Amino acid sequence: MEQLKGLILSGGKGTRLRPITHTSAKQLVPVANKPVLFYGLEAMAEAGIAEVGIVIAPETGSEIERAVGDGSRFGLRVRYILQEEPLGLAHAVLTAEGFLGESPFVMYLGDNLLQGGIADLVAAFREHAPDALILLTPVPDPQNYGVAELAPATAAGEPRAVLRLVEKPVQPTTDLALVGVYMFTAQIHDAARAISPSARGELEITDAIQHLVDGGMRVEPHIVRGWWKDTGRLEDLLEANRLILDTILERIGGELLDCRVDGRVVIEAGARLERTTVRGPAIIGAGARLYDCYVGPYTAIGEGCEITNSEVEHSILLEGCTVCNLDGRMESSLLGRNVTVRRGDSQPRAYRFLVGDNSDLSIL
Ligand code: DAU
Repeated sequence: MEQLKGLILSGGKGTRLRPITHTSAKQLVPVANKPVLFYGLEAMAEAGIAEVGIVIAPETGSEIERAVGDGSRFGLRVRYILQEEPLGLAHAVLTAEGFLGESPFVMYLGDNLLQGGIADLVAAFREHAPDALILLTPVPDPQNYGVAELAPATAAGEPRAVLRLVEKPVQPTTDLALVGVYMFTAQIHDAARAISPSARGELEITDAIQHLVDGGMRVEPHIVRGWWKDTGRLEDLLEANRLILDTILERIGGELLDCRVDGRVVIEAGARLERTTVRGPAIIGAGARLYDCYVGPYTAIGEGCEITNSEVEHSILLEGCTVCNLDGRMESSLLGRNVTVRRGDSQPRAYRFLVGDNSDLSIL
């Protein structure tokens, strides 16, 4: 088989993570202090892929270019492909046709996280040489995804045939969701050209794959064994953060004074903690300052955050946040960059906010 290329989709709108994504690409929101997109890039490098195209949008593209650069730090050669409008995943593939040429390729949605990487799947794709390989996993809410219907199993161990793929069906007939990692041959370009926009006005990759099935091409389904997360919503992002933090190894690089650290905790170099308890799994970014705090399990504190006299648990704080003198514990929260949350000391005692559009605050 020809050399495999990689295609990562990092365009789109990111409406579900607003307000965070008003100012930043959703693919750069960190999970365990590392942008989601980087996990996909690492998976590509680990699977032996050398050349990767990243599809970017006009609004957030330059931020993604700044974060990833030429890809050399991942051991990759990265090219950027501008998609003027988010007209769908199959439209993104067509936009990248010049980069992909006749090469087979792995397509990875930039906001997806897949445990265990893609090396095994790339090996299966090379070995069985289907026209496309798709990944599926059972989910409790299939109506939010592309959904697959498979033929009954024939011989033991043989992959089941794909019968039908439907994008976000109102009444799903199965619970098998399409995971955002796909392997394609160049056949997909003609399929993407053959389909029409869906009800949401997008050229759906799901429809393009259905077109391959209808044309008698071999589409091989693989059921994902580990976990998979689409990080497009807050609950999913917090869950991805939990799943990744569960795999971290303890590493204390910062300075600790009168602190207690339990369980697997990463404290990056340059961080300073005083009279603070950290109960892992948790990660504290470089240069963070924590005084008289409790940091509970499944918390990721970004670079340069400053937390004083407060309790934080099961939360993600992006870089540069300040949290000070909270009355209760902050929990299941996502703070964007440079956010300040503090108990004020001026009278009358009242909540005072400076909050961006579409923010979401819960106060008891
Ligand atoms: O996460 C898996 C699901 O991803 C699949 O089950 C669905 O079949 C598939 O259509 C897709 O659904 P979403 O509605 O979640 O896709 P979303 O709009 O979030 O876009 C996925 C990624 O692709 C995201 O990183 C943004 C990027 N994108 C999206 C569009 C529409 C582009 O780069 N260009 C685009 O035009």
